Amino acid sequence: MLIFSSKKVLISHLSAFKHASNSLGMVPTMGALHKGHLALVKKAISENDAVVVSIFVNPTQFDNKDDLKKYPSTLDTDLEYLKSISDELIVFTPSVTDLYSKNIKSKEYEFNGLDKRMEGEFRSNHFSGVATVVEKLFSIVKPNRAYFGEKDFQQLLIIKKLVQKMNMPIEIIGCPIVREPGGLAMSSRNERLPESLRNRASFIYKTLISAKKIFGMKSAQYVRNWVQNKFDDASDFDLEYIEICDQETLIPVKRKQKNTKYRAFIAVYISGVRLIDNIALN
Ligand code: PAF
Repeated sequence: MLIFSSKKVLISHLSAFKHASNSLGMVPTMGALHKGHLALVKKAISENDAVVVSIFVNPTQFDNKDDLKKYPSTLDTDLEYLKSISDELIVFTPSVTDLYSKNIKSKEYEFNGLDKRMEGEFRSNHFSGVATVVEKLFSIVKPNRAYFGEKDFQQLLIIKKLVQKMNMPIEIIGCPIVREPGGLAMSSRNERLPESLRNRASFIYKTLISAKKIFGMKSAQYVRNWVQNKFDDASDFDLEYIEICDQETLIPVKRKQKNTKYRAFIAVYISGVRLIDNIALN
């Protein structure tokens, strides 16, 4: 496995590889890898001649400095984990200075409102930070395909919009959410939950499954209220939002339309840990 911490050295390594018109896949991560990331890496390996996995905890996407400090740093285990999948992976672990120089700031983007609701509303500047670092990583690696999990569905849509706006010839591939046996969506934040709360947190997914069933018979507003009531009764959870949106525009549904795909999105705190999840409703 090749590990590069300098973008200059990585770029020169990749230029030789690209001359031979091979296809390059990329999986951007912030480390603390789990089975969800591994599913992305495996898919990338199966569809490309070579794969770059980046591990970089991006400071500009954290609105809360405490959240940044608490973000787990597990580089040695991450590298072991990646090596166990394939010895051929190329891993990129840049420093903050290598990516941002002295200007640790986000760029401003216009994403036609995709970044304004839900995560965008509750985590200010989060998506401009994500887009800034992903644009930087893409312009260094120049992959043909890049892989992102659907757990961060809003992020996935924004990255699709980013490559379209920047005219980057990169196919963005969304991959299904990987879940723990009880249903909790895999996330690096789950590590901060004690085992007993991980089981309890599967309540989030179970509620989404029931919401999906109810959505077949009732209005979006009914389903939102129903979920809200469920969480009002569960005092160990603190619901931040439940939204039901058109899954392409992320505009909240007022009245269901035929031929439109809807998705429910949720953010919840349990024991101080913020978890997000989503489910396709039809
Ligand atoms: O999803 C993540 O882990 C991050 O938001 C990403 C895409 C690697 C950018 O830092």
